Amino acid sequence: MKKIGVFTSGGDAPGMNACIRAVVRSAAYHQVEVVGIKRGYQGMIDDEFMPLQKSDVANIIQHGGTMLKTARSKDFMTFEGRQKAYNNIVKHGIEGLVCIGGNGTYTGAGLFYQEFGIPSIGAPGTIDNDLYGTDFTIGFDTAVNTALDAIDKIRDTADAHNRVFFIEVMGRDSGFIALNSGISGGAEGILLPEVMNDFETLKLHFSNDQRRAKEFSIIIVAEGETEGNTYQLAEKFKENFPECDLRVTVLGHVQRGGRPTANDRILASFLGNAAVEQLIAGKTNLCVGMVNHKLALVTYKEAIESKKTIDASLWHLSQVLSY
Ligand code: F6P
Repeated sequence: MKKIGVFTSGGDAPGMNACIRAVVRSAAYHQVEVVGIKRGYQGMIDDEFMPLQKSDVANIIQHGGTMLKTARSKDFMTFEGRQKAYNNIVKHGIEGLVCIGGNGTYTGAGLFYQEFGIPSIGAPGTIDNDLYGTDFTIGFDTAVNTALDAIDKIRDTADAHNRVFFIEVMGRDSGFIALNSGISGGAEGILLPEVMNDFETLKLHFSNDQRRAKEFSIIIVAEGETEGNTYQLAEKFKENFPECDLRVTVLGHVQRGGRPTANDRILASFLGNAAVEQLIAGKTNLCVGMVNHKLALVTYKEAIESKKTIDASLWHLSQVLSY
């Protein structure tokens, strides 16, 4: 393999730049050229390609976002779109791809191989941490720390006013950010899509200890919570505990940006390097991940079809500590 492409796709995540850097530098180490594809699959269709030398990825390891930009491409979902993308890949002499993103990115890459035979390796880049085959995804640790910083700040004002705060954190269908930021932020309650009837459990905790609703409390709600959105849940809570002075804060996209933590930079660098080496070794349709601090590989199919579950012992811990 003489030339490979790299792109980021789907929601950006802090550490994507560190991963791009690792791909470019690892490829250079193995005498392989790299072409950056801007705006993910959309740039592949629109012919937005740029050669990447080692010097092009200098001074990016510390930045959030992605120097290659990203997109959620609707055109790539059509055969015509993928045909255009393939024509451009051939035009630029690209023999393999490193795809940094989430489930949607892996699905596209799998289909692209099936239809056009372009080999690819996926690297898990999403703050949600909802990808099977890796303990952590690139961006998760930074997002948790960003949420934690905000929670600590809200704690101060919650304490000063004796208020109950419902704080929504990201996680479209999963509660990983909520669970980790909730435990580290000392939350009195955590609501996750993975746990049934957690709102009832929360109510029970507060009913058993009536002081709680009058004093300050932090309740973390995952964006994907299925028992209602954060505002609805806060309203329901207020109906049950009218004495509480309640506020809602939605942290939103602040969690997607910022300087990646050391853990995210190391993970992203490790996975970027691993992706290049797998591609050079002739592998395809695999996702690189880290499990127990070691390289782990799963197929796109496994990654897409298997659901990553939350750590039951962490959930138990959260319940014990907030009891
Ligand atoms: O998948 C990452 C994520 O940040 C989710 O937590 C969130 O639901 C979604 O992306 C938001 O997507 P967008 O930036 O397209 O609104």
